[in-house]
Amino acid sequence: MSSSPIRLLQIGRQMPALEAALAAQYQVHRLADEADPQAFLAAHGAEFEALVTSAAIGVEHAVVQALPRLRVISSFGVGLDKIDVAAAKAQGVAVGYTPEVLTDCVADLAFGLLIDAARGLSAADRFVRRGDWESSKFPMSTRVSGKKLGIFGLGRIGSTIARRASGFDMTVRYTNRRPVEGVAYGFEPSLLALARWSDFLVIAAAGGPSTQHLVNAEVLSALGPQGFIVNVARGSVIDEAALIQALSHRSIAGAGLDVFEDEPHVPAALRALDNVVLLPHVASATHETRQAMADRVLANLASFFRDQTLVSAA
Ligand code: DGY
Repeated sequence: MSSSPIRLLQIGRQMPALEAALAAQYQVHRLADEADPQAFLAAHGAEFEALVTSAAIGVEHAVVQALPRLRVISSFGVGLDKIDVAAAKAQGVAVGYTPEVLTDCVADLAFGLLIDAARGLSAADRFVRRGDWESSKFPMSTRVSGKKLGIFGLGRIGSTIARRASGFDMTVRYTNRRPVEGVAYGFEPSLLALARWSDFLVIAAAGGPSTQHLVNAEVLSALGPQGFIVNVARGSVIDEAALIQALSHRSIAGAGLDVFEDEPHVPAALRALDNVVLLPHVASATHETRQAMADRVLANLASFFRDQTLVSAA
């Protein structure tokens, strides 16, 4: 085995602790530092065996193709919608990511958004800060406990959200491509049927072409004027224009969103509405989880260069 450090290409910025750990173990080059990334790749692409990116940034497949000696991609995050995993694998490149370690925090935040959307926590906070309590009453809100929770995407995160719901005495149903074996929750055959049944509809399905705009005007109308929607998955799953219409006409009661179609851009029409809680894609952003994700990025690389396995393979 060669003793020279492995050359690693970094796409975008990572948290400082991860960048420091990568720099200690690999010869890291940041593509973002290049004035002309394409020219850099044409001249130096063949030098890199490893690539680090994140779910938020992903990597264009043209970049992967410009790295003929690339053996492994290690991505910070669970979402794979911005990485062409099949094409990378076809090129002989292994793809690692960081599921499991972020599941609890994303589920916690989904519940936080659900409660905030229904009970108006953020709005009530703004009300107190404005000094409005002295002159008026904060409007009544909507009860959460005992209600019906629909989950679109009963994977790792969806199932963890469902477990949180039992503490709120909620009834849970879900929809997926097919029923999940061994779960007691009711299966609805379509997203439309699930929306019709739900008081709260939580989106936990993966992003990408197969889920693009599945939450459309029809689904939102089925959720109805008492219904709330929460999205901790990908903005692309919801037709954002249809959601803005539904919220502004109060044909749904409210929404809690951690993700948007064109992040970090959030449409002004959405920002102007008072029946939506808006977060800057922070579901996994706790100190503990982000450190665990960074550790998994490093563990995937270490494992790959030890024996060509990954701790978490996509
Ligand atoms: C993830 O890990 O996919 C988070 O949504 C961050 O993009």
